[in-house]
Amino acid sequence: MSQRPIYLDAHATTPVDKRVLETMLPYFTESFGNPSTNTHVYGWEASAAVKNAREAIAKIINATPEEIVFTSGATEANNLAIKGVAEAYFNQGKHIVTVATEHRAVLDPCGYLETLGFEVTYLPVQPDGLLDLQQLKQAIRDDTILVSVMAANNEIGVLQPLSEIGEICHSRGVLFHTDAAQAIAKIPLDVAEMNIDLMSLTAHKIYGPKGIGALYVRRRDPRVKLASQIHGGGQEQGRRSGTLYTPQIVGFAKALEIGIGEMESESERLLQLKKQLWSMFEPLEGIYLNGNFTKSLHGNLNISIRGVDGSALLLGLQSIVAVSSGSACSSASTAPSHVITALGRDKKLAHASLRFGIGRFNTQSEIELVGQQAISTIKSLRQANSVPAKS
Ligand SMILES: Cc1ncc(COP(=O)(O)O)c(C=O)c1O
Repeated sequence: MSQRPIYLDAHATTPVDKRVLETMLPYFTESFGNPSTNTHVYGWEASAAVKNAREAIAKIINATPEEIVFTSGATEANNLAIKGVAEAYFNQGKHIVTVATEHRAVLDPCGYLETLGFEVTYLPVQPDGLLDLQQLKQAIRDDTILVSVMAANNEIGVLQPLSEIGEICHSRGVLFHTDAAQAIAKIPLDVAEMNIDLMSLTAHKIYGPKGIGALYVRRRDPRVKLASQIHGGGQEQGRRSGTLYTPQIVGFAKALEIGIGEMESESERLLQLKKQLWSMFEPLEGIYLNGNFTKSLHGNLNISIRGVDGSALLLGLQSIVAVSSGSACSSASTAPSHVITALGRDKKLAHASLRFGIGRFNTQSEIELVGQQAISTIKSLRQANSVPAKS
C-alpha cells in the first residue's frame, strides 16, 4: 500500500484506540445478549456491561446514571435536547437562544422548530469566536425556554465560557444545553458546577467507536422534562427507544475513561504541537489565525490564507496531509464556512481556510513535515496565481 497522508483531522473523527476495541470485542460475539432481556444470562451480561458503562460516564461528568440517555451520537443528542425541550415546554414559551457558529446539528433542529412557530435568536460572536455574555443576557426573554451554546467549536476550537453561561441561564430560570461533542475528555466538564441542564456527547471524537453518544438530562434542580423523539420499546426510561448497542456503549465508556485519565498530559503535549505548527505559519504574510489561540482546544489550529484558492490548496495537500477546510460534517456543501464568516472574514478567506485537528497519535516530526509541505504548497499556489499575499 502506498504511503497514506498524515492524519490531522481529529475534529472530524478519530481512530478507535486499540485498548477501546479490545474492551468492545467480547460484546459482539460472546456477551451479545439484549440488555433489556432479563430472563437469561446473555441479557444479564449485556445489561451489567451497560450499567457499568453508564455509571462510569455519569461519574466523569458529575451526573447520576439515570441522567444519561444513550443515543447514536451527538447529532441525535442535540436533536433530542432541542426538539425534546421545545415540545415539552412550548406552553411556557416558544423562544430559543443559540449562536451563529453552532454545528449544523444544533442550527438545523432550531431552523426546523422555526417552521413550527418557535422563534430562535442566533447570537453573533466576537472576531475571536467568543460569545459576548452581555448580548446573551439581553437576548433572554420571559418566553425563552432554552439556551444552547456549544462547549468547543468543531472548526476553530474556541471554548465558550460554560460556567458563566450556566449561571446566567439559571439566574433567569432558563434551561442550558451544551453540545460538548468536541470538548469532552479535552477539558474538564462538570454538569453540577457549570449549571448545565442538558449536554450532548459522542464517542468517535475521543478514540471511541462511531454511532454512539449520549445526552445528559438533569433530574434535579430543575428536573428537565423531555419529549421523546424516537418511540418504541421504551428503553432509556422511554426517552429514546431502540435496542441498546452494548459493544459501542462499552467502548464509549472505555474511550472516555482513557481520555480523562490522560487528559492533562495529552492536553499539554497537544499544545506544544499546536505552537510548533503555528510558529511555522506565523511569519508568513497573509496568514490569519481563526479563533482564539489560548481559549481553544489545544489540538485545534484553524488558519485562513490570502492569495490561494481553497480547493486548490486542499488538492495540493491531499497526498501529504488529511485536513479539512471548514466543517467535515457539512463538506458536501461548497458554501464558505458559516463559522469563519461569522468571525467577520471575507468569503475568499473563509474558503481558503485550513482546519488542523491534532490528535493522540500525531508526533513532532509529522507536524514539522506538514508545516513545511503546507508552506511550500501555499507559496507555489501564490506564485502560480501571481496574487499578492497582501490585500
Ligand atoms: C460540535 C459537534 N456537534 C455535533 C457533531 C455530530 O456528532 P455525531 O457525529 O456524533 O452525530 C459533531 C461532529 O462533527 C460536532 O463536531
